[in-house]
Amino acid sequence: MTATRVIIDCDPGQDDAINLFLAFASPEEIEVLGITTVAGNAPVALTQRNARLICELAGRGDVLVHAGCTAPLSVAPLTAEHVHGATGIDGLDIWEPAMLLQPVHAVDYLVDTLLGADQAPTLVATGPLTNIAMALTREPGIVPRIERIVLMGGAMREGGNITPSAEFNMRADPHAADIVLRSGVPIVMLGLDVTHELLVTRARLARMKAIGNPVATAAHDMLAFSERYDLAKYGKDGAPLHDPCTMAWLLRPDLFCTRPCSVAVETGSPLTLGHTAVDFWGITQGRRSIQWAYDVDVEGFFDLLFERLARFPAARFSRRRSA
Ligand code: RIB
Ligand code: CA
Repeated sequence: MTATRVIIDCDPGQDDAINLFLAFASPEEIEVLGITTVAGNAPVALTQRNARLICELAGRGDVLVHAGCTAPLSVAPLTAEHVHGATGIDGLDIWEPAMLLQPVHAVDYLVDTLLGADQAPTLVATGPLTNIAMALTREPGIVPRIERIVLMGGAMREGGNITPSAEFNMRADPHAADIVLRSGVPIVMLGLDVTHELLVTRARLARMKAIGNPVATAAHDMLAFSERYDLAKYGKDGAPLHDPCTMAWLLRPDLFCTRPCSVAVETGSPLTLGHTAVDFWGITQGRRSIQWAYDVDVEGFFDLLFERLARFPAARFSRRRSA
């Protein structure tokens, strides 16, 4: 089986980081062509730095990391330091990455790589969709050059998490989401309806820590920080784990239940900005080119995550101390 070639567009973010770990732990199934970063959980100056930290921690200082859009297409910037901390990845001891940031802007990298690839890559998106929307707008010719987009975002049953009716990635740049969702590219959309089932309970957090290698320990430490907000907000016995559902779908689509639909996103109303209207019944006449995830095998997901985290070496990671 040939590995799926992916470009991961993200805003690390602790859960984005664990999604990167999951990709790096699965070289037989996933070939990471590059990482593009976007403003979201934190400004892009931090998300690009955090992506490089995660690459180094995973022993993948070879991966191309690009910085992308610093602000949404139209709405005012929205970040989530209240969840992810001032660094965007609190829980991890920060150092100055040795690996360099690529000089090419993420949007240029996306367009050039998609046009030049001999086999259409898959885009994995776990942040606001600004970079991908900009690439689609700049060069509509990339649409047939994208195998599919697997994205974390949106909500139907669950309501919103950043507002009563909108999930963060959709709300942070609703106009970008609108462009991507209407592009006609095949999309697998994993929203709060499934990620709110994936709760990192005490037992699962302990199981992650017990793995004992530096990557699993970093994953534990990051989630042990970022969970505070959701535990206080939802009062459940664990915080939802969002972004690793994208890589999990690529690795084990059988863990998820999806159904075809079209999805429209609110771009006008201040009250419902970023709301995703999921249409399974063709009412809105949109092409049903989106697979909406509505259920997940929770135990199967965490078994996969822990098995892959355990693949990282036990050797101590020697990082450069921050300046
Ligand atoms: O709503 C959850 C999403 O918003 C995740 O991608 C998380 O990292 C934040 O970006
Ligand atoms: Ca994210």
